[in-house]
Parts: sequence; structure tokens; C-alpha cells
Amino acid sequence: MNDGSIIHSLQVVADVQHFGEDLLKNITTGACIGITGTLVESPGQGQPVEIHATALEIYGTADPETYPLQKKGHTLEFLREIAHLRPRTNTFGAVLRIRHAMAFAIHKYFNDNGFFYLHSPIITGSDAEGAGAMFRVTTLDAKNPPLDEKGDVNFREDFFGKVTNLTVSGQLEAELGAMALSLVYTFGPTFRAENSNTPRHLAEFWMIEPEMAFYDIHDDMDLAEDFLKFLIRYALENCYDDLEFLNKMYDESLIERLKSVTKSQFVRISYTEAMDILMNAGQTFEFPLGWGNDLQAEHERYLVEKHFGKPVMLSDYPKEIKAFYMKQNDDGKTVRALDVLFPKIGEIIGGSQREENYDKLISRIREMNIPEKDVWWYLETRKFGTAPHSGFGLGFERLILFVTGMANIRDVIPFPRTPMNAEF
Ligand code: 4AD
Ligand code: MG
Repeated sequence: MNDGSIIHSLQVVADVQHFGEDLLKNITTGACIGITGTLVESPGQGQPVEIHATALEIYGTADPETYPLQKKGHTLEFLREIAHLRPRTNTFGAVLRIRHAMAFAIHKYFNDNGFFYLHSPIITGSDAEGAGAMFRVTTLDAKNPPLDEKGDVNFREDFFGKVTNLTVSGQLEAELGAMALSLVYTFGPTFRAENSNTPRHLAEFWMIEPEMAFYDIHDDMDLAEDFLKFLIRYALENCYDDLEFLNKMYDESLIERLKSVTKSQFVRISYTEAMDILMNAGQTFEFPLGWGNDLQAEHERYLVEKHFGKPVMLSDYPKEIKAFYMKQNDDGKTVRALDVLFPKIGEIIGGSQREENYDKLISRIREMNIPEKDVWWYLETRKFGTAPHSGFGLGFERLILFVTGMANIRDVIPFPRTPMNAEF
């Protein structure tokens, strides 16, 4: 029997004479039972102790004809179709316990380092991040919405009196918090309506976003590296049995890889240097290379897995492929962006030093045609007591992918939200 608290099961020995075959035959895979008995050293192999049952209660049977989790070795694809039952498998038990431990470790790290947890809103009126398509939040009647003078949907009559969406990031609000409390972080769900069906994208995922006053890009990198190493070390120290199980079942190099990342010094190079390495790699990639092009997962993984063999922090990207708020470099071409690339994952963190200069920020906002009426409150941070500051976003599920060695992001969140999939 197993109550989900650890990966190991407890062997129960029950005397058929005592309990009777009619009762015992109800205890099939998936049944829920209560046992009273004596814990004794186990004479058999494979477990140190076992319970000799003196009393037995069956709370719920599970008909072997219809209970889907019969034999071992179901495919992960099959388990996704029964997301309501898959937490009961060893694999998802391990993943969910590790996920919990990582959430706890994140709060512990920040609390121990003087950060304050800031709750950024989930419903937002700003579409300024530009991180991808958003999910509309509305109470208007889809069939018969109120119309304005021009015949467009009149969102002034909507619940909030304006267009609102689910947030793509808590960063802009975290910046407001950092201007008050210096060190803050958010940790909440974020939503992106991109139609990207990849093993690394979800439409609903959790993000951790620290934001630090008086940090420049180098301080930002130091924090990102220390934070990630702390989390991986925490998993190795607190989730070893679950990691051992996943190492055995899915990924033989998992524990070795985790250890190696905690010991390695992350590489720090610029986007331009990375592009040079890729163009001289003598390797054909699916997506085109060239200064100004965004890096794709295949490029990121080449740098991390083939070229350096350890995590890589890339900075100073072309401004055209990054968000409006990033600090502009003196070259007029690049911004102080930071991406952290991990083996098997690619981008695990995206962040930057922020542009704290009002004039530079407003000129970039105008260049990018961002409506000033949407970001007036954000601009006030640069008007009143502005400060240099930096931050980053860690994708929680990408972290869990790395720590568990699972290959598909749908298998590290209890109920994945992806295009055409919100059944459970
Ligand atoms: O690089 P992104 O878009 O950065 C931001 O949103 C910034 N506002 C963060 C900041 O500076 N405070 O996203 C950050 C991270 C990515 O590196 C990735 O790990 C994860 O969020 N991520 C996703 N994870 C799962 N599914 C998706 N669709 C994701 N999009 C981003
Ligand atoms: Mg990014």
C-alpha cells in the first residue's frame, strides 16, 4: 500500500485463513484500504519492514475491468488522457512531490535573502509586456455584445469598464514593488495564448519574478545563478528517493546532470559572441542564423550541450527582439537582456536590467507604438525617485522539467493547459 507521501510502498501481509478469500479478493490495484497491524522487520527482499495485518477495512474498491491504471508501464501520452487519475502513479507522485518541494524552496530562498513576496494581479488592464497573445477576460454577452458609435464592441460597458486580460507576466507590477521594498518577487500563474504546441510551452504556467532595486545586469546574473543552484541542491538534498526513481525509470543521467550544474560555473557571454560561435559551428540548423535573428531552442541547446557543456547566460541582445523596458546600451543597437540557457531545456530564465531613464524609456515606447495611456502608471516610477533596477522571470515548469528529467512540460503540472486541451 502507498499513501502518496513517499515513493516507497509498504508491504502488507494478511492471512487468508483469518480474513477470508471473499474479502481479500476485493483488494485489487487502485482499491483504498485501511490496515491495523504490527510493523515487523521483513524477512523478504526488497523492503526493510512490513505490516502483519490484524484488522482490515476496505474504503473503496476499484473494479479491475474498468479501472484504467492496471498494469505498470503505461505511456505518458496515455496518462495525459487520464489526468484525473495519473497523480496516483509512481511517476506523478514523484513529480508532484518534487514540484511542491521546489515551490517551498523558492519561498525559502527569497525569504532567507530579504525579499518580500508581492502578489501581482492575474487580471490586468495593460497589454504592455508584449510577451505574446493574451486571453480576454470579459462578462459581455458573446452573442449580443453592446456596441459603440463605430459599431465596435463597447468595452466601457464591460465588468471593469475597459478591456482586460489574463496577465502574461507580473513584472511591471513587481517593478512598482521594488521601488518601494527594494527586493520583491512574484510567484503566480501567467497565461499566454500562443498556439505553440511544443514540449516546453503551456498556455497557463507559473512564473517566479524577482525584481531588485540597485541591481545591474551583473548582479542580476549573480542572483540567477545562485538561485538556480540553490534550488537544484535543495532537490538533491530533500527529494533524493524521488529523483532516484526518475533517474532509474526515465533518465539515467538525471542525478549526474543535477550535480554537475550545482558544481559548474555558468558561462557568461553576449548575444553577439554566441551568434559568432553558432555561425562558426559548421552545423546546419533548421532556423536561420544572423545578427538580429532570435535564437531558437536548437541554437540554445547547441551552445549549452555541445559547445560549452554547462549552463550559459546570454546578455545584450538586439533591441528589436526584446521588450520595450530593457536598458539601452550605449551602442544604440543592443539592450541589457539576460537569458539563462540550460541543458535539455534551452531558455529557463528571461530577464534584464530595466531602463530607468524616463526620456530613453518614453522614446522607446513611442518607437514601438505602445499606447502611453496604458503605461502612464509604469512611467511614473521613472518620474518619481527612479532607481537602477533589474529582474528576471523563471518558468516554474521549465525548472521542474530540468529537475525531474521529464521530457514534456505537460507531465510536470497537474492539469496542463495547452491548445485544445482543458478537459480536467
Ligand atoms: O522570457 P519571458 O517571456 O520573460 C518575461 O515574461 C519577463 N517579464 C520576466 C522578467 O524579467 N520578470 O518569460 C520568462 C520565463 C521563460 O524564460 C520561460 O522559462 C518561461 O518564463 N516561459 C514559459 N514557460 C512555459 N510555457 C510558456 N508558454 C512560457 N513562456 C515563457
Ligand atoms: Mg524569454
